[in-house]
Amino acid sequence: MTPKLPKSQNPHSMDDTDKSSSERIPLSRPWLGELEAEAVRRVLLSGWLIQGPATKKFEDAMTRFMGAKTAVAVASGTAALHLALIALEIGPGDEVILPSHSFVATANTVVYVGATPVYIDIDPKTYNMNPDLLESVITPKTRAICVVHQSGLPADMDKILKVAEKHSISVYEDAACALGSKYGDSQIGTISKLSCFSFHPRKIITTGEGGMITTDSEDLADKLRILRQQGMTKDAATRAGLDGPLKTSDFKTKFPVIGFNYRMTDISAAVGLAQLRRLPVILESRKELAEVYAEQLAQVPHIVPPFVPDGVTHNYQSYVVRIKPESKRTRDEVLRFLKERKIDGGPGITCIHRQAPYKPYMRTPLKESESATDETILLPFFPQMSREQVGYIAHTLRLAVTGKS
Ligand SMILES: Cc1ncc(COP(=O)(O)O)c(C=O)c1O
Repeated sequence: MTPKLPKSQNPHSMDDTDKSSSERIPLSRPWLGELEAEAVRRVLLSGWLIQGPATKKFEDAMTRFMGAKTAVAVASGTAALHLALIALEIGPGDEVILPSHSFVATANTVVYVGATPVYIDIDPKTYNMNPDLLESVITPKTRAICVVHQSGLPADMDKILKVAEKHSISVYEDAACALGSKYGDSQIGTISKLSCFSFHPRKIITTGEGGMITTDSEDLADKLRILRQQGMTKDAATRAGLDGPLKTSDFKTKFPVIGFNYRMTDISAAVGLAQLRRLPVILESRKELAEVYAEQLAQVPHIVPPFVPDGVTHNYQSYVVRIKPESKRTRDEVLRFLKERKIDGGPGITCIHRQAPYKPYMRTPLKESESATDETILLPFFPQMSREQVGYIAHTLRLAVTGKS
C-alpha cells in the first residue's frame, strides 16, 4: 500500500500552523488548531481555570481511550513519576532500577524521594532496558523497576513483570512518550500498577505542560489525588459544589499527608481533551509517516532504521536512526550537515549516568547505552510532514553518510 501524506484534507486536522516546505524542518511540531483555541476560550470565559470540570472530563476521556480503570491528571510527566514513587512508598534506603538511556526526569524523581537509581543497560536494537540483565542488578534493597518505553516503543513487559514478580518488586512505567503504543493488544497505560504520561509539546498529544497517571487500583488513585492537591482530601471543585450537591463533609477539608501543588489547570485539560479527539488521526498519520520513512530510507546506506519487535505497536514519538561506523561522516558531522540544510535532527537520547549529579550512582558498565547515545540521531517526525519533506531528508542523509556534499 502506498502511504498517503499529508493529511491536510482530513476534517479533523483543523491545523492552521504554517508548514511551507521552504522553511526549516523542525524535529517536532505539535498539531494544534482552532479546536484547541476554542476549547481554551470556553474555559477562560467560564471563569473556572484551575483543576475542575475540564480536568475530570480529560481524565475520563483518557480512561476510555486506553481502557484503564482510573486516570489522575497532574502538572507534568515529572510530577506523575514523582507521585507514583510516593504512592508506592519508595523512599530512603530503597533502590529503583531504571535505564540510564532516558530523559533525566526518570532518575530525578527517584532522587526526589531519597531513593537510589540503579542503572540497567539497554538492548542495542530497541534502545529499551535489557530484561535479561535485571537479575544482575537486583539487590536486597531493590523496591521498584521503572520501565521506560523509549521513544514510544514498548519495552519487553512480559519478561520484566516475570522477574519483578519473582523478586516481589513493584513495576511502574515511565510512559511519557508512549501514549497510543500497544504491547500485544494492551494499550500502554493498562499493564503495570502505575503508568506515567507526559503532555509536553514533544509528546504525542500536548497540553503545554501536563501529565497523567493511569492505574487499575482505586487505592493508589485516591492517594495520588490527595498528593497532587497539597495533601487535601477535597479539591476546590468539590468544595465549590461543581461535583453535585454539597455535603457537610465536602467543606470540612483535612490534610492527612504532606502533598504538592501538582494540579493540572482546566485550561491545559481543555487543550488535552481537544487533542484526544485528534489522537486517532495523529496515531494513524504517524504510522503512515513511518512507512514513508522506511520506504525512503531503504535507499540510504550506513544507517540502522528503527527496529520494531513482533507483537508491539510503536507510536514513533521519536524516529531514531543509528549511524554505522562505515558512514563517511561521524554522527555529529551528519547532524551538522543536516542542520546546514535546514533539517533539525537531534542527537541521541541522553545517558543519565554521564551527567554530573548521576556519575556517583554508576555500578556496572553501560556500553550499549553509551553507544546508542553517541551513534544515534533523531530525525524530524510529526504528523503534518509531507512526503516531499521525508524525501528531502532521506536524500540529504544519503549525501551525508556517503561523504558527498
Ligand atoms: C522519558 C521521559 N520521562 C519523563 C519526561 C518528563 O516529562 P515532563 O516534561 O512532562 O515533565 C520526559 C519528557 O519530557 C521523558 O521523555
